[in-house]
Formats: sequence, structure tokens, C-alpha cells
Amino acid sequence: MVVLSCTSRSFWALPAGLRPLLRSTYCFAPNRRISSGGPTTQSLTIDGEQYPSDSWTNVPPAILAQYGRKLHVQPNHPLSITRALIESRFPGFRNHNDLPGVVTVSQNFDSLGFTPDHPGRNRTDTYYINKDTLLRTHTSAHEVDVFRQNASNGYTISADVYRRDAVDRSHYPAFHQMEGALTWDVNHFKTRQDLVKQITEDFDKLPKHDLVVEDPNPTFHPERNPLQEKHHSPEEAEIIAAHLKRSLEDMVVTIFKEADKALAAAGQGSQAEQEPLKVRWVEAFFPHTSPSWELEVWWRGDWLEVLGCGIIDQPLLIRADVPSRVGWAFGIGLERIAMLLFGIPDIRLFWSKDSRFLGQFNEKLPIRRFQPFSKHPAAPRDVSFWLPQSSAPPVVNTPSSAPSPAGGQLTRNEPSATSDPVFHENDLMEIARNTAGDNVEDVSLVDDFTHPKTGRRSLCYRITYRSLEKTLTTEEANALHQRISQELVGKFGVELR
Ligand code: DAH
Repeated sequence: MVVLSCTSRSFWALPAGLRPLLRSTYCFAPNRRISSGGPTTQSLTIDGEQYPSDSWTNVPPAILAQYGRKLHVQPNHPLSITRALIESRFPGFRNHNDLPGVVTVSQNFDSLGFTPDHPGRNRTDTYYINKDTLLRTHTSAHEVDVFRQNASNGYTISADVYRRDAVDRSHYPAFHQMEGALTWDVNHFKTRQDLVKQITEDFDKLPKHDLVVEDPNPTFHPERNPLQEKHHSPEEAEIIAAHLKRSLEDMVVTIFKEADKALAAAGQGSQAEQEPLKVRWVEAFFPHTSPSWELEVWWRGDWLEVLGCGIIDQPLLIRADVPSRVGWAFGIGLERIAMLLFGIPDIRLFWSKDSRFLGQFNEKLPIRRFQPFSKHPAAPRDVSFWLPQSSAPPVVNTPSSAPSPAGGQLTRNEPSATSDPVFHENDLMEIARNTAGDNVEDVSLVDDFTHPKTGRRSLCYRITYRSLEKTLTTEEANALHQRISQELVGKFGVELR
């Protein structure tokens, strides 16, 4: 439950023109604070807990309104069905499904070994409640706490997570992830050799599959994907990695076979889907694992990233007071898997309370394809503007900077610290969401032009308005578009063209 409260006038009720003075639509180097003395008497109450807001606060009411819906445990919800299906492939694991979404900066980043300058910490990417507290950006935020409890060898954590992000049919600023981890306690064995023997036996007991697996790289590589030499022998890392990979391949087989069955039942099992299921392991980097991988699945003619994983960073386990445990962890985005399983075409639908949506899913029955109930017409509108001449270069998300489905944000070019408001695409995304809510389906850059003589830069974005519930009138779409355009002028001093 979320209550917005303040002892002074609500920050969010301020005229748009004044908000930039208080709120960060500025880009900062990590850990920099804005100097403006924003209202300090304001607070946010979330889950009955009061949090003072400060100059870091950037979580908008639209996000707080979604907070606490717990779709991943809502009976018969497709996200809950997907979660349960994945959990069923990890028997004996303890499933944590109720961990609160407000976490500390330390839980979300420091505890996992994120460097102080990791881009994920930026306020352009993360919703801060205040400088010390945020809405978790991934379920990994709970890893250290759950390891510290030391209550089971294996666990999963499923939860809602939040990121400032692009607006399109597969991105929504609130989504769901599942974390999974399995560790073995070295102290339970007489020798490290016995540990390896046990993991090998456990590996042999895992279900076999007929999946085609491409795994061209060595398990570890000194530069690209290092072994944690101080903590694991090559033999240990090899068998932990083999156990991890086989376990996740088994999970993927289960999901995609269900998806195929649902397609066939809907009479949509075409030639393309009859191809043998194929996956590949790709080297990756995460601060909390080494070596690390992403798993990609060949699905309808494309490689699709489905999860991130690796051998748990041993210093993390040491910080969690379980230094004698070794093992693996993974993180998977639930929406993408659910979209694929059920054929759900738009990520906004998961938040729908419409019975035409919710009524289609039943956790007791085999998975069935979603039947679109209506498609209201799209209303695209373009907004073109000149950036202010003094402004630092804008930050425009490129496809490679989009978060991975596991939610990993691996690289992003951040502008250097500056006191000028810098146009960051994620700010436009948020303006669009705050103004048009779920009536905005997609925001994409359609033109980026620098005037050859003046050097001025102009951007053009196409904003596609479409309601899932009704046909938007021309007037409604125009009014939304006008408000978004005006906010852009107010916040960034852009000049509309
Ligand atoms: N937390 C990562 C993310 O959101 C996903 C992830 C990657 C989780 C590797 C893990 C892991 O547990 O081992 O991008």
C-alpha cells in the first residue's frame, strides 16, 4: 500500500515549469547530489513505512500506483502461472515470493559488488525514494539477505522490479524477475574432492533433454570470463557450471515445450515451430558472478535472450556470512517468458484488470494461447524539437543499451556530470507515461538531425497512443500529445519545430 503524504505542498502538484528545479531531470555522476534545497519535510509512505524524500527522489506517482499489486502471486494471473511453472523445475528450493520492493542502495548495488560508477546506479535508470533507498531494480537485491538466512541449499526469489526505461510493447517500468540460486556447503564434505563428487552425482540426476545446445566457449577465460582462482579449482568451477547449465536448459525445455503445445492446440503450430528447439550459451558479465553467461533461445527465427547467470562471486557469499558455500545463481525476466508462453502481444496487458484479459488464464488447465479481445486503433503523433544549444549531448538509448530480459544493463554511455539539464531519453519516456499513462504504447526516435551550418541538433520522436480499453478520440490523443510536448519545453528548454 502506498500513501503519498507531505507536510508542505506536494512536489508532484507543483507547476511543471518549477519541477525541474527540484527534481532530477539532470544527469549526474553517480553519488552527486543536486544543490537545490528541495522540500525536506516531504515524505513517502510505502508498505506502512515512512521515507523522507530528498533531492534524489524521482519515483513518480504512476509507479507508486502500480506498486504492491503482486501480480506474480495473483491466482490465475499469467505471471503467476509462469512463476509456478519455473519453480516446478527446481524441486526442493525454497520459494520467496513476498520480499518488500523498497530496498537500500546497499542491498541493490553494494552488496552485489556493483562499482560506485556503475551506470545502473544513475537516477536516469533507477527510481530513488531518497538517496539511501530505492525501488529494487532486480531480484538480486535480496541475494545476500537470503544467503545470510542460510535456510536452504536452493532458493528462488520472485518479485516486482522497477527501472526507468524505454516505452514499447516489451518494456514497462515495472516488471517481474525471478532469481534462483543453488549452493553446496564445503564444510559438509571431508575434502574438496568429495564436494566435486557430490555435485557430479547431483548433475547426473538432473533430467536429460533433447535440446540442441551451442556452447562454443571454454567454461572460463582469463580475460573474458575469469575463474575465481582464489576460491574455486578449475574442476569445481567446471562441475558447478555444468550443473547450472543443465538445470537451466531443463527449465527452458519445459517452458518452450509448453509454448509449442499451446500453439499446436490453437492450430498455429507451423513448420517454423517444428524446428528442433535450440539454445546457445553466450559469455556475459555481471558484478555478482564469475564466470557469467546469458542463455539465448532460437524462437521463431530469432535468438532471444532469456536469462543471465553464473558462478556466484565468492566475496558475496563471504559478505553474507556463508563463506563455506559455493554455487550458482540466475536471474530471469518473467514478462518475456509469459508473453512467449501465452502469446501476449503487449506488456501493458499484464497490468490490466479487465476480465476479458484476466478471464483467459487458469492455473489448473494446460497453457492456452491468449485470444486478443479487441485492438483499438493507434494514434501516432510526432514531436520534433531543437535541443538547446548549450546543452550537453543527449542520451539516446540505442538497441544495445536496452536492458536484457534478465534486466541486466551492461553498458550505457552516460554524459559527464554537468549542471545543464541534459535531455535523456528515459526522461521523455517518463513524461509520456506520467502524462498519458497506459495510453502510450510506444515512443521511438524517428529522426536525429544536426544542422550543417548552425550545428544545432534536432530530434523527432514518434509517440504512438493506443488504449487497451477504448478508441482514443483525435481530441484526446491531441491533448495528451500537447501536454507531453509542453512538458518537454518546460523541462529541457527545447524548441518545438
Ligand atoms: N540481476 C541481473 C539483472 O537484473 C540478472 C542476473 C544475472 C541475476 C546473473 C543473477 C545472475 O542471479 O547470476 O540484470
